[in-house]
Amino acid sequence: MPIKIAVFASGAGSNTQRIIDYFRTSDKVQVALIVCNNPGAGVLEIAAREQIETLLIDKQQFTKGDAYYSFLKQKNIQFLVLAGFLWKIPEALIKAYPKKIINIHPALLPKYGGKGMYGNFVHQAVLASGDRESGITIHYVDEWYDHGTIIFQARCKIEPEDLASTLAQKIHALEHRYFPEIIEKLVLDSNF
Ligand code: GRF
Repeated sequence: MPIKIAVFASGAGSNTQRIIDYFRTSDKVQVALIVCNNPGAGVLEIAAREQIETLLIDKQQFTKGDAYYSFLKQKNIQFLVLAGFLWKIPEALIKAYPKKIINIHPALLPKYGGKGMYGNFVHQAVLASGDRESGITIHYVDEWYDHGTIIFQARCKIEPEDLASTLAQKIHALEHRYFPEIIEKLVLDSNF
């Protein structure tokens, strides 16, 4: 039986698509659920096309009670991957999935993280700082935004002519290249 993972995503879902593609033929890991808080998100179209079950979540229920844990448990979800999911993960889930929730952030944490630091806000802040490089960070999720232990980083150069849009493209390329294989390694190394 493959280990079932859920991808939490509320945006376009390009990372989610790469993760689905990567595990499509795997007999060890299965993308079994897409969790989303935005009914208009592009990732829901991906899930529909890929015939992967979706869970559209409500803020009240997510932040109170068991944060959908009983649902995730019933579906046998063993590992959670955040790929463009902006809500804070409630303590109930952090306790239920110790070292089994990871996030990807489009900058080199601990710089440029925290509430409100997502998408182009991150790239604009990086460019405004004058840094000569940026990158991606994959980290464990804890009770604070973009704070848990760092697992992996990859870097890219910033050129003087870079804009938020061109930097975003470089970052997405790094995410697409590395995220699925890091997920695979972590899931297969986990104790369930
Ligand atoms: C990624 O850049 C990721 O780092 C951030 O949200 C973005 C999601 O992009 N957390 P996509 O929806 O996967 O295209």
